[in-house]
Amino acid sequence: MNYRQQFAEEIYTQLEKKLDMDEIIPLIEEPKYNTHGDLAFPCFTLAKKLQKAPRQIAMELSEKVSAPFLEKTVAAGPYLNGFLNKEIVSKQAMEHINKEQENYGSLSAGAEKTITIDFSSPNIAKPFSMGHLRSTVIGNALANISEKCGYKAIRINHLGDWGTQFGKLITAYQLWGSEEKVRENPIKELFHLYVSFHEQVEKQPHLEDEARFWFKQLESGNEEALQLWKWFREESLKEFAKIYELLNIKFDSYDGEAFYNDKMDDVVQELKAKDLLSHSDGAEVVDLTDEKLPPCLIKKKDGATLYATRDLAAAIYRKKTYQFDKSFYIVGQEQRLHFQQLFLVLQKMGYNWAAELKHVPFGFILKDGKKMSTRKGKVVLLEDVIKEAINLAYQNIEAKNPALINKEEVAKMVGVGAIIFHDLKNERQNNIEFNLDEMLRFEGSTGLYVQYTHARACSILRKAPSENNLAIGGLTDSYSWPIIKTLMDFPDVIEKSFQQAEASVVAKYVLKLSQEFNKYYGYIKILADDAEQSSRLALVKSVTIVLKEGLRLLGIKAPEKL
Ligand code: ARG
Repeated sequence: MNYRQQFAEEIYTQLEKKLDMDEIIPLIEEPKYNTHGDLAFPCFTLAKKLQKAPRQIAMELSEKVSAPFLEKTVAAGPYLNGFLNKEIVSKQAMEHINKEQENYGSLSAGAEKTITIDFSSPNIAKPFSMGHLRSTVIGNALANISEKCGYKAIRINHLGDWGTQFGKLITAYQLWGSEEKVRENPIKELFHLYVSFHEQVEKQPHLEDEARFWFKQLESGNEEALQLWKWFREESLKEFAKIYELLNIKFDSYDGEAFYNDKMDDVVQELKAKDLLSHSDGAEVVDLTDEKLPPCLIKKKDGATLYATRDLAAAIYRKKTYQFDKSFYIVGQEQRLHFQQLFLVLQKMGYNWAAELKHVPFGFILKDGKKMSTRKGKVVLLEDVIKEAINLAYQNIEAKNPALINKEEVAKMVGVGAIIFHDLKNERQNNIEFNLDEMLRFEGSTGLYVQYTHARACSILRKAPSENNLAIGGLTDSYSWPIIKTLMDFPDVIEKSFQQAEASVVAKYVLKLSQEFNKYYGYIKILADDAEQSSRLALVKSVTIVLKEGLRLLGIKAPEKL
């Protein structure tokens, strides 16, 4: 079914193996204008080898290359252009997709391989930020896409549940906290205490010592400190769980920073043994001058470990535990340096697998062009934002299709889908503007537009005569052909999206397929009672399969009625 491959094979045979398949395949492109054919092979590379002009090679190839799936080949200057046989190719494509169903597009590149994906990873006792939302949505999509490529994906939530901030929090709680208030509204209240600490410490610097004292207590296992920490952690997790529930996202592991407490000593010893530690102002660091980077901080003056120390321990632990072949970290671009340092230190430790670690950075979410930050005291809870999106979606449905059954359920799919799609349709390194009304538009590049297209296609299938047996024949009209070609691109799209760790490739793809389908729907009477009806319905069915699967990869549900 891969015509690029088949076209390459024909050329390979005709060239009498002057070029390898591996050399031919990447050369094959699509002609700029579709009137020039479906496939193009530039002959420049061959010119040298064969000591002939590219034009002449193209000419000669056009006389030789032929196959049933090709209607014709022509020389267009230095290019060999191939026109696919619409009749044969469309029939095969639709048959294939309808046979494979949701497995269509699955690849085997990652078979027997494991990938760990570190994503979401919010910080305990702090609000779940917009940045964490991006990490959650991008990470989940990349985990799904990895699985589609055959990998076993391990979803890891590296919770920020350790660090000096817990000394501050305990101090603040001891001074001003109330158990009742925390129980009632954990994140809001804990964050409020944290903010108060920062306000008060300016007037009462001794609070800083107190915080350090409590963190020390925590690190040395003091019961009182541990109990409080545990409680804060549990309450926070309950809140985060609500968000994951709304987004329909699950993790294989919640081993966060605290999990590595008893694993860091070994790492520090190993660094020492490998002669990588040096002293700097009383702290212990790994020097990275040769790499032109600031040193990686391993231990503070007072012996306390750091974020990087825990990440070192985590990487080594994950390699041992999961035997990963690849490992992604979905974390904002502001942590680029941290990951550069982390990977370099692992390399210096002699871990060749450090080459398989990848930081997958992303941009900010902006509100009215400005960076959204949880400014002092003013906390927008993400849970509320998602609920608002669902609510707006509900009103939308109520206005447009009040008779719809399962309105609540569908509103959830649409509201959540809107937020996810709005994030993923952009290349992740771009900043994105957060605007709920924009996200929920019916027209334009929204999740709703794709969901709506899918539902429209489903509704056509429901109207199809029941005796229709879906005997699939070829389609040759000019409205179905772009759809067929786009459908055939799906496996390549998945591969590319994984290679680039870029879920937007899939998001843009489902938009394109939707647009093409809607054009088709506008011009062609799909249900007309003629000989091609069952073929057209097979095309519609293929579109529903691929749209639904594409959305699933992004983490979005596709309701059949909207
Ligand atoms: N909790 C961190 C933060 O909010 C993100 C952790 C990312 N993962 C990691 N292994 N460092 O900034």
